[in-house]
Amino acid sequence: MHAQPFVIRPAQEDDLPALLALETAYFAHPWTAENLLTEIRKPAGCFLVALRQASPVGYVSAVLVPPEAFVNNLAVAEPCRGRGVATALMRRLENACAARGVTAVKLEVRCGNTAARSLYRSLGYVSDGVRPGFYRDPPDDAALMTHVLTD
Ligand SMILES: CC(C)(COP(=O)(O)OP(=O)(O)OC[C@H]1O[C@@H](n2cnc3c(N)ncnc32)[C@H](O)[C@@H]1OP(=O)(O)O)[C@@H](O)C(=O)NCCC(=O)NCCS
Repeated sequence: MHAQPFVIRPAQEDDLPALLALETAYFAHPWTAENLLTEIRKPAGCFLVALRQASPVGYVSAVLVPPEAFVNNLAVAEPCRGRGVATALMRRLENACAARGVTAVKLEVRCGNTAARSLYRSLGYVSDGVRPGFYRDPPDDAALMTHVLTD
C-alpha cells in the first residue's frame, strides 16, 4: 500500500511552467508550452496534475473520442516516483473517461520503458501490437496497449 499525500485535479494554465519543466526533464521530444496549453484547453481532452504541497509533481494527458481514449503523456517527478502517483493519476483519468462514455483506453509506450510497461500492466493494460521503429533518441519500438474499462 502506498502513502498518498497528493492531490489530483484538472490542470490549469498557471501549472504551465511546472508542467514544462517535467516534460523537458523526462522526454527526448518534449511538448512546448504552446502544445501543453492546447492540451489543457482541448474540450475533448483530459489533463490531470498531481500536486504535492501545491506544486505539480506529475501529470497525465489524454484525448477522449468515445468509445475510446488515447493517453498522450504521463510523467512523475523523479523524487516522487514509486509512491503510487502515476497509478492514482491513471485511475482518475479512467474514471473521467468512463464518465464520458469511454470503454477502452489506449496508449503507446517504448518497449524499453520497463517502469511504464509494468505500471500499465499492473493497471490491467494488455499489449495488442507493436509499431517497429516508432521512437527516436534513442530508437525503440512502440508497444500498443489497451485497457477495456468494465463497470
Ligand atoms: C513510469 C512512471 C510514470 C511511473 O510513475 P510512478 O509514480 O513511480 O508509478 P507508481 O508508483 O504508481 O508505480 C505503480 C507500479 O508501476 C510499476 N513500476 C513503477 N516504477 C517502476 C520501475 N522503476 N521498475 C519496475 N516497475 C515499476 C510497478 O508495478 C509499480 O507497482 P509497485 O510499486 O506496487 O511495485 C515514472 O517512472 C515516470 O515518470 N517515468 C518517466 C516518464 C515516462 O516514462 N512516462 C511514461 C510514458 S508512456
